[in-house]
Amino acid sequence: MEKVINYLKDNFDAYLDELKDYIRIPSISTLDTHKDKMVECADYVAKQFESAGMEKVKIFPTKGHPLVYGEWLKQPGKPTVLIYGHYDVQPVDPIDLWVSDPFEPRIADGKIYARGANDNKGQNFVHLKAVEAFMKVTGSLPVNVKFLFEGEEEIGSASLAEFLKTEQELLKCDCIMISDTSMYAPNVPTITYGLRGLLYMEVEVTAANRDLHSGSFGGAVANPIIELAKMISKLHDKNGKIAIQNFYKNVQVPTKKEKDNFKKLKFSDKAYAKDLAVKELQGEKGFSTLERLWVRPSLDCNGIIGGFTEKGAKTVLPSKAMTKISMRLVPNQDPEKIAKEFAKFFKSISPKSVTTEVRKLHFGPPAVAPLDSPGINAASNALAKAFGKKTVFTREGGSIPIVVDFMRQLKAPAVMMGLGLDSDDIHSPNEHFRLENFEKGLYSAAYFLDELAKQ
Ligand code: BES
Ligand code: MN
Repeated sequence: MEKVINYLKDNFDAYLDELKDYIRIPSISTLDTHKDKMVECADYVAKQFESAGMEKVKIFPTKGHPLVYGEWLKQPGKPTVLIYGHYDVQPVDPIDLWVSDPFEPRIADGKIYARGANDNKGQNFVHLKAVEAFMKVTGSLPVNVKFLFEGEEEIGSASLAEFLKTEQELLKCDCIMISDTSMYAPNVPTITYGLRGLLYMEVEVTAANRDLHSGSFGGAVANPIIELAKMISKLHDKNGKIAIQNFYKNVQVPTKKEKDNFKKLKFSDKAYAKDLAVKELQGEKGFSTLERLWVRPSLDCNGIIGGFTEKGAKTVLPSKAMTKISMRLVPNQDPEKIAKEFAKFFKSISPKSVTTEVRKLHFGPPAVAPLDSPGINAASNALAKAFGKKTVFTREGGSIPIVVDFMRQLKAPAVMMGLGLDSDDIHSPNEHFRLENFEKGLYSAAYFLDELAKQ
């Protein structure tokens, strides 16, 4: 083990350079214009699998973006880990707020800045290099490894979900390793055992059949932006509860043990508010911040468009307004049922002066992984060794839509060994990843393989 760790240490700078090449490929999954970049990135990943010593490396084309697979199965009798990662990234807008080019990685104050530096290229890269180091130093691995990277995580993982329906044999494993979550705080090794789900909707409001002069028509015809704003304002009541019917039906209450665990994490509302430069936090009455983030559902308006938004003034009474609304869901809320209730809610409050259309974009169910699996124990020990501290267990407010499918289809627990921080600005301008976490992540990934073999 020591030799492997030393090898990782010695090669850190070279790995960082390779990570930069990975990041330079602008693999933005949601943009149709970037399809060729997705193919290029899948090729890059396949090459990485090969240099990590994987066999049967294969790029699977899908209706969306390619999946990349590779395996090394020469430890019969030892566990098999499926290491999952996503090579797609989020768009970079608003580009003006980036200090430097999002796809030209910049190292400053101990961090690497770029889109994907953390989510998820930086995080999945540690596993590639830990496996590679094991192979280079010892000529083998302590356990069996399957790698599977996809290019659609940021848009809902539809192709991987399809793939999982028919490829259970290929992907058969004892646990699924995922590094795509946050640590509780800097230098606090963390295992995440729960994720919120996500339901993403669009609401479009149409008033008149065309844009109108706001002098000739204003006051006599509905304004779709105003009507939409009124409807949005009805989504929460005065206690911060979501007003959609049956929304909280089936919401699972956390156990006493869980609540005690949350308390032990000593979350500071004050520090949190200060960091975000808000005077006060806001949310559902009667719940702590960690409960609001991890075990209670939420609803957010992600964007709203309509009318004239350029510089200057134009007098217009627009025909249309549109908003994108997402809901973070918790066990055992049913995304499909909630999507229906959501549409019903808008229909019921939409005034006759406009037409309101509701569309479902995508959804992923919430996930809770078991806390006592060999994979979790191995990861918990590995993190503790790499960071020199006891591992804490948290849930997460964000989503990784494929986790539930993985656990159901492969009948194996997910192990979420995140290396990011909530302050790393993922999905935002100036996304970054701490070099210290990159380094300790490399060690954690290597220790994990060793620990898993001992379980
Ligand atoms: N890595 C994130 C999940 C995450 C979010 C972890 C926040 C820790 C903190 C993942 O890549 C992600 O962004 N998921 C999307 C899923 C969605 C687009 C289907 C999310 O949560 O918005
Ligand atoms: Mn993401």
